[in-house]
Amino acid sequence: MTSSVLTREATALRRPSLRHYLMCPPTFFDVAYAINPWMHPGSPVDRDRALAQWSGLVAAYRAAGHRVDLLEPVEGLPDMVFAANGATVVDGRVLQARFATPQRAAEAERHGAWHAARLGRAGVVTAPVAVNEAEGDFAVLSDRVLAGHGFRTSPDAHAELGRLSGREVISLELVSPYYYHLDVALTVLDDRTDHVAYYPPAFSPASRERLAALFPDAVLATDADAACLGLNAVSDGETVWLPAGATALVAALAGAGYRPVEVDVAELLRGGGGVKCCTQEIRHPRTPPRPAPP
Ligand code: ARG
Repeated sequence: MTSSVLTREATALRRPSLRHYLMCPPTFFDVAYAINPWMHPGSPVDRDRALAQWSGLVAAYRAAGHRVDLLEPVEGLPDMVFAANGATVVDGRVLQARFATPQRAAEAERHGAWHAARLGRAGVVTAPVAVNEAEGDFAVLSDRVLAGHGFRTSPDAHAELGRLSGREVISLELVSPYYYHLDVALTVLDDRTDHVAYYPPAFSPASRERLAALFPDAVLATDADAACLGLNAVSDGETVWLPAGATALVAALAGAGYRPVEVDVAELLRGGGGVKCCTQEIRHPRTPPRPAPP
């Protein structure tokens, strides 16, 4: 009985908030090169299947009331479906990506141009100084940002985002090539209470200690959860969309009061990315606090 009472109490705490996402259809998706250990060029991808899976994710977000804008795909940029890597938007301020690998370099300006068309050039940093792969390595919390380094994003970019956003940026070192981006090793479940889930072995011992101290109530993913990229998830505070197959994580999320929704993104996983990788969040300026009544 105790567990059902706990579950009910936890459920009562979970509330969605409306989101705005930018996504890019996998029209030209391919595994044409290998820049992470999940990618095995050689056998052709099934683009129809990739498009069907991606479209299912878009439909799921929209059905939950979230806004999804689309970025035009570009032939010759096969990883462009992984829109989370193109820009980081915090409080309406945009830091364009600067990719670590030449294969993806040209994606960055497409993202910068899309945001500049909305906000004007002044609202977008289109020439970042340091290498950053955007939300691949930046996880935005209520007042702080967690930032990965070790494979793609450079620690200098952590400082760059800190200056742009005015937020404290907490650097975390990634140590496993399979978990080359922060967003395959950690996910933000609730960005109001800063509730997260993560996979400890993806981090250096010092970063693990830091995470344990910062997030004593975090959900910890198992080896099997992490290996199906279960942490590459998107949460609106209540529903958590995650790549299918992370059995223990799904149970843990449900037990913590969330509504986990497993999404079949198998074809996209061949590029080393899942649900979160396909989803860039556009975080608008926070509404100023209402003036106190007279
Ligand atoms: N093939 C892409 C790369 O290696 C996958 C990117 C996945 N995106 C992410 N946000 N983790 O760059």
